[in-house]
Amino acid sequence: MQVSNAPPADAARHADMVVVGGGIIGLSIAWRAARHGRSVIVVDPAPGSGASHAAAGMLAPVSEVAYTEEPLLRLGLASLSRWPAFAAELSAESGVDVDHRGEGTLDVAFGADDLAALSEVADFLEKLSLPVQRLTGRECRRAEPMLAPSVRGGILVAGDAWVDPRRVTAALLAALARRGVPVFADRVTGLLSADGPVRGVRCASGAAIGAGLVVLAAGAWSGSLPGLPPEVLPPVRPVKGQIMRLRGAPGFLGRCVRGVVHGSRAYLVPRGDGEIVLGATQEEMGFDTRVTAGALWELLRDARELVPGITELEVVDLAAGLRPGTPDNLPVIGPSGVDGLVLATGHHRGGVLLCPLTAELVAGDPDPGLVPLAALCSPLRFTEAHR
Ligand code: GLY
Repeated sequence: MQVSNAPPADAARHADMVVVGGGIIGLSIAWRAARHGRSVIVVDPAPGSGASHAAAGMLAPVSEVAYTEEPLLRLGLASLSRWPAFAAELSAESGVDVDHRGEGTLDVAFGADDLAALSEVADFLEKLSLPVQRLTGRECRRAEPMLAPSVRGGILVAGDAWVDPRRVTAALLAALARRGVPVFADRVTGLLSADGPVRGVRCASGAAIGAGLVVLAAGAWSGSLPGLPPEVLPPVRPVKGQIMRLRGAPGFLGRCVRGVVHGSRAYLVPRGDGEIVLGATQEEMGFDTRVTAGALWELLRDARELVPGITELEVVDLAAGLRPGTPDNLPVIGPSGVDGLVLATGHHRGGVLLCPLTAELVAGDPDPGLVPLAALCSPLRFTEAHR
């Protein structure tokens, strides 16, 4: 990983932009800003090791949809359409293949109640004219032979795709290194401002980094940055997700499989090298990142109902990450209300999906058609409506 040590405390550092947070969101913003000719510095104690490390990488705005979350669906679709170019350009610049695949998601139901719930989702998607294909149990197994005979039916969402988020963060770090963007392994402890505009950050090492713009992209930690005025603190909370990585033969699964088993949800995301990511819990446990036996048991119990063969696979990794959740499940992207400070956090379940869109909104030259979507994400919706 191309990460420098913390800068010496007495070093005079300055950049057009300093990005606080080296997860997939912060790194994507830094990469876009650098490509637009801006000088950038990224600060994170352990870049790429937070939620991005535990993410499965589904680019699935349609199959992840919940009723009433049409604005989130629109954001997700806008970002999904940017992923092919983002992945191709990133892979070309970094030399790292990010395993971007687009064979779609098969969303299946185990019991009669699960099938009824899935059918309601299909009704909602069809009302929005989104392409979904309803399948019987037999058709599901034809599409994905590893599925259990007990699967009752499902929907095929052909437009969904996925990537390997660990490769994406590695690629972003490599691309930033090639462009000479420093990524400092340090912790931001406060902002440089004298009760006025934000003019940089102060780090745990004692270093001060001046910047024309500070972008706060610290995921679940964004709500607790010391020195941020209370009216500007984004209302993000940690939402824990635990995953398990399994190894099968390449092609063990042909596409992403999501399932509802007696009301609880599980998904299986295949990698090109045969690895399968099984996820994910959704737990409100504060900043707890322990991997627990009970959560893994529940994931395996549900996933085995859908794909019985997974119990034969080797366990290669266990991980837990903290999604940055918000009160309305929409991200918090845009000017904070304090001059010199922009927020890019609150991506909850959609950080990987939404990184190209977020980078475009924050780091320059956004498509003018994005204005209505940008308004949905504005941090000011909390300062104006909820305080
Ligand atoms: N996007 C899937 C998850 O957050 O678990």
